[in-house]
Amino acid sequence: MKVFVTCPLPGDAIERIERACDVVVVGEPARGVRSEAFTKDAASFEAILALLTDAIDEPLLERCPRVRLVANMAVGVDNVDLRACHARGVAVTNTPGVLTEATADLAFALMLAAARRVVEGDGIVRRGDFPGWTPTTLLGAPVHGATLGIVGLGRIGQAVARRARGFGMHVCYTQRTRLDEKLERALGASFATIDEVFSGCDFVSIHCPLTPETQHIASRARIASMKPGSVLVNTARGPCVDEVALAEALEKGPLAAAGLDVFEREPEVDARLRARTNAVLTPHIGSADRRTRAAMAALAADNVIAFARGEPLLTKFEATESKG
Ligand code: NAP
Ligand code: GLV
Repeated sequence: MKVFVTCPLPGDAIERIERACDVVVVGEPARGVRSEAFTKDAASFEAILALLTDAIDEPLLERCPRVRLVANMAVGVDNVDLRACHARGVAVTNTPGVLTEATADLAFALMLAAARRVVEGDGIVRRGDFPGWTPTTLLGAPVHGATLGIVGLGRIGQAVARRARGFGMHVCYTQRTRLDEKLERALGASFATIDEVFSGCDFVSIHCPLTPETQHIASRARIASMKPGSVLVNTARGPCVDEVALAEALEKGPLAAAGLDVFEREPEVDARLRARTNAVLTPHIGSADRRTRAAMAALAADNVIAFARGEPLLTKFEATESKG
């Protein structure tokens, strides 16, 4: 089987695929399916190991009619046109689970850094502007005892909820399907409507997939309804948040701060957001710890290998998982 791998991968993932398949790997990660290597031999590939930066859409599938598997090295599959894949009999796999804790770690890091003004403080010290301790320097938003609203209490949302309990936070959540009471109790999370989460919480953290339904789920109206001094964190996908409205809310209130790992038009980031000292910005590194990235690459590779051997796929993404 001929497999196109859109960039070099951590660990021994590529070597393992090579033992089962004929592999073409693109040298530079930024090009992926936009590379010359893809264009040249598109018609011959039977599987693509893709990154979230590779748009797998109808025109692309048209160019590679032999492709029967798209193994995405990400849990999010919003870069893949699932309907087009389904219509063409192309299976789609993703990498759920292995990145849950790492992404929750980053969400919490952003929450803490944004609320407690860690990056502003770092700048003050580095510039030599530290005036010595004062009672009013860099007062931030209290974290312990605050209320955290989670949009999407799935794998990552639940891992964030568990961390929040350790910080003495009160957790509420919203999603389409309410969890069973036992799990709610175990997580210490109470169910609320999406509007209640935005208007009633000190922190809102977004953990739903990007679907037509969740595009701008943090809408202008919901951001405007947030409590004065509140904090918005987004480690899901940029388009889940109306960035223009967010920039305004960071300039004029009600938000005290935001922590963002994802952006509406990556890799571009809105100039108004970049100008805000009360926004902590990271370059889509939610899953970027060494162990996690190796596990993601291994899982994507194992899906390709299973497919080549005619074995069941490990993490087939079913269209019903993305009901939006
Ligand atoms: P998951 O386990 O499938 O959880 C997603 C949750 O979102 C589910 O509980 C789902 O519940 C909820 N949801 C779906 N549609 C919704 C809607 N319209 N309104 C409110 N809630 C909705 O997924 P996960 O593994 O936690 O990953 C979540 C997302 O995080 C991924 O899709 C990806 O985009 C993002 N992510 C980002 C990074 C990063 O590097 N920053 C890393 C990993 C993942 P219902 O179906 O009941 O609504
Ligand atoms: C990263 O953003 C992922 O979806 O895995």
